[in-house]
Amino acid sequence: MRPIQAVDTVSFDGTEVTMLDQTLLPVQQVRLTIRDTPQMHEAIRSLRVRGAPAIGVAAAFGLWLGVRDLPDDLPRDEAEARLRGEQTFLAGARPTAVNLTWALERCAAEALRAPGGTAALKQAALDAAIRLRANEEATTRQIGEHGAGLLMGLSGVLTHCNAGSAATVGLGTALAPIYVAAERGHLLRVFADETRPLLQGARITAWELQEAGVPVTVITDSMAAVVMRQGKVGAVIVGCDRVAANGDVANKIGTYGVALLARAHGLPFYVAGPTSTIDLATPDGDHIEIEQRAPHEVTHHGGVPMAPEGVDVFNPAFDVTPAEYVSAIITEKGVVYPPYTQGLKDVKA
Ligand code: MRU
Repeated sequence: MRPIQAVDTVSFDGTEVTMLDQTLLPVQQVRLTIRDTPQMHEAIRSLRVRGAPAIGVAAAFGLWLGVRDLPDDLPRDEAEARLRGEQTFLAGARPTAVNLTWALERCAAEALRAPGGTAALKQAALDAAIRLRANEEATTRQIGEHGAGLLMGLSGVLTHCNAGSAATVGLGTALAPIYVAAERGHLLRVFADETRPLLQGARITAWELQEAGVPVTVITDSMAAVVMRQGKVGAVIVGCDRVAANGDVANKIGTYGVALLARAHGLPFYVAGPTSTIDLATPDGDHIEIEQRAPHEVTHHGGVPMAPEGVDVFNPAFDVTPAEYVSAIITEKGVVYPPYTQGLKDVKA
């Protein structure tokens, strides 16, 4: 099979930062030019760009946009204060994916380390974002290379949400091993949970797999059990938004249920993600802040009400799968097996 063409989620063309508006997929493919931090904050908050690694890269460019137009002769300390202010602002866009704060801190630190005046700080912020993007892109292929071996004998896998190319700046996390297996001549059928309420599985995972020529079957979330029961899949593979030091995994709401189903059916449950998603400062899943989103995401679809007006709604965007249900964590530095505490430390070192 020909090499997989990655989705161009966030990029810099030498002048402008652009991104694919993922809220319009799969019907329209519209590129947005992002010109300032409020616009980047809105794009992250409203899921125009989404998926932990892609959010991190977007925020890194957002940080640069926040200082881009400062006059070069502005006193350096004022530029530094502005940079830190923009960092705090962007970090508040979404709370769960640790890649957001990780990328911002890494790029801010690099910019602040640059010797010279405000012009040097601005250039360093841009260089840091470009470097981060390149690293994260390379990382996805390494995740694919490490994970493909786990899938080679299987005919089908199940995934939840979108942890593909559209969630990163490369081949994806959970989908990367599937793409690398395809490039090696082994096509797996992917059962994609539609992933209520925002349907990232149906809208985005199905779209990008179809574009890549990988067989995909969309199911509603409630069909995962029967797909497993009927032996249609040999494993589950999902992405992650934050992995705690003990191996507990925050990922899209519904992931925990899928992990329980996998255990009940004797299937391995793999998590794939870059080491930037591992947060050793968070001891376990109970310490991960879970984003709560607006009720209308549950009560409405395409602007049409699906529930009585004013009804009470519970809408956490993520859940936590306890480490005991995770068979392995696939990173760019290799596959980590339980017990996770030491293994995660080793890949973060
Ligand atoms: O709310 P989103 O669309 O940003 O959520 C992303 C996810 O949770 C994905 O499932 C993914 O596994 C994590 S990012 C590769």
